[in-house]
Amino acid sequence: MEVHNVDLTISAVRPDQYPKTDYPEVALVGRSNVGKSSLTNTLINRRNFAHTSSQPGKTQTLNFYNVEDQLYFVDVPGYGYAKVSKKERERFGQMIEQYLTKRDQLCGTILLVDGRHAPTDDDVSMCQWLTYYQIPTLVVATKMDKVKGNTWNRQESLIKKTLGLSTQTPLVLFSAVSKKGKETVWQWIEKQMGM
Ligand code: GTP
Ligand code: MG
Repeated sequence: MEVHNVDLTISAVRPDQYPKTDYPEVALVGRSNVGKSSLTNTLINRRNFAHTSSQPGKTQTLNFYNVEDQLYFVDVPGYGYAKVSKKERERFGQMIEQYLTKRDQLCGTILLVDGRHAPTDDDVSMCQWLTYYQIPTLVVATKMDKVKGNTWNRQESLIKKTLGLSTQTPLVLFSAVSKKGKETVWQWIEKQMGM
């Protein structure tokens, strides 16, 4: 999709604040600092429209980005950030679970993992959880600009194996710096939207 117009419609913490539209929605989930907001920016051709930070825990609400009045990207708070209190974590967890399990407009979820390392236990749990709820998922390995090209295949196999990905769950190697993988991610999104 050619993206020119984007706006942040709402930063929601409760279902009654979600947009009242029936546009399809794609959620971005993953550990804090993995690059969810950066992926959002790359997909919409903006530098820092979705606020990014080198400090984990930047995104704390469900941020609905209206893209061309055709779909929403929903940037979700990250998990696995130790400095967030237990109470906060539970609140985030509930908010995310409620959205992912109850939202009819949700047509797919992008699960981001750090392409430099093996997925964490939290990543594995999230992936299993999405499979259990039968939410169509694309796995995106981020920060591939920091991974040497000759080890990409090995990283790809490691991520697939650790997450236990079935053949139905695609994996894209991505970099917000080089924009590698951007078109493939868009193709998957458009397929989920029924385009
Ligand atoms: P939270 O909102 O805290 O959950 O984090 P997030 O997942 O939204 O991460 P964010 O997009 O804010 O990125 C975190 C840090 O990683 C920032 O310093 C980004 O510049 C950096 N980063 C994100 N993607 C990439 C990438 O593909 N390559 C490189 N080199 N750095 C990246
Ligand atoms: Mg963020």
